[in-house]
Amino acid sequence: KSNRREPFHRFDAGKCTTTLLAIFEALIPPADEEKRRKQLLTSLDELVSGIWSEARLFLFGSCANAFGVCNSDIDVCLSIEGESATRSEVVCTLAEALKANHMQNVQALTHARVPIVKYSDPKTGISCDVCVNNMLAVVNTKLLHDYAQIDVRLRQLAFIVKHWAKCRQVNETYRGTLSSYAYVLMCIHFLQQRRPPVLPCLQEMEPTYRVTVGDIDCAYFDKVDNLKGFGQQNKETLADLVWSFFDYWAFRHDYTHTVISIRTGKYLSKVEKDWTRRIGNECHLICIEDPFEVSHDLGRVVDKHSIRVLRDEFRRAARIMQQEVNPCPALFEPY
Ligand code: CTP
Ligand code: MG
Repeated sequence: KSNRREPFHRFDAGKCTTTLLAIFEALIPPADEEKRRKQLLTSLDELVSGIWSEARLFLFGSCANAFGVCNSDIDVCLSIEGESATRSEVVCTLAEALKANHMQNVQALTHARVPIVKYSDPKTGISCDVCVNNMLAVVNTKLLHDYAQIDVRLRQLAFIVKHWAKCRQVNETYRGTLSSYAYVLMCIHFLQQRRPPVLPCLQEMEPTYRVTVGDIDCAYFDKVDNLKGFGQQNKETLADLVWSFFDYWAFRHDYTHTVISIRTGKYLSKVEKDWTRRIGNECHLICIEDPFEVSHDLGRVVDKHSIRVLRDEFRRAARIMQQEVNPCPALFEPY
């Protein structure tokens, strides 16, 4: 397998990095987007407090994890302790209240694995997904956010990979490709593996942050200000990293035997996770361990057909990075 990679690429690392950084900058949300989000959150907070006095709202997902591009929807978790109604019932109650409050496109998805209400706020023009008591998502959002503070190259690489995945239509879980969350985990793991490493493994360090969600103990080192400069020994440019990332997933990853795990900062074997067979709809053709819900494989949505689509796209991207003098236009060419 390894003979498929020639030792040189044709792009100039400096020039290609400049182009990639310009794309990254253009994807960063403008400052006023933050303001509009706060506005939406304030009015949602008023609404839910009127129904459930104990209710609290938490942002999660790309609007809070540092990996959000402009114009993305916002993800909100409504936390109500000691509520006897089911999550679906809460979702229905909230949907009615939002409609009465003149919100648009209100939809209650009560049968989803995680019940949510979708709506858009006419005042801010923002679309919002609200779920109920999904605190694990809030905690993994903080973990991703903390990783992003350690080395700027993580945020840059993840923006580029997410943008590529959207352009190439391989960021669609309902069609068997990977979620944005999965791509960010792949980027973190990749940067933990560089030699010298660009990122540490926060869950393997002495915990400074600890919460329990259900029966899951979430603990890791979160004093990331102390880790600024961690990756300085590694001099790779963004272009080098993008090239190596695609080369890794195209030609080097052992899809048959291994699981990537940011929790351990290592590779695990599918055998030790018992992810060797298909159970129901869950396949394990590409294995990405969730950092806290360790029985959860983010790759389980990928099936026999979509794994080919995905691996073809990784190979396409790797070849472009390998062969083109100016790889960006072809890399992000809409599918
Ligand atoms: N999440 C999760 N488990 C999953 C998928 C998602 O816990 N299998 C949670 C994570 O907290 C993640 C959030 O849901 O940050 C949103 O997921 P996703 O939409 O994939 O990522 P975003 O960062 O919101 O990306 P996008 O910009 O594409 O909306
Ligand atoms: Mg999202």
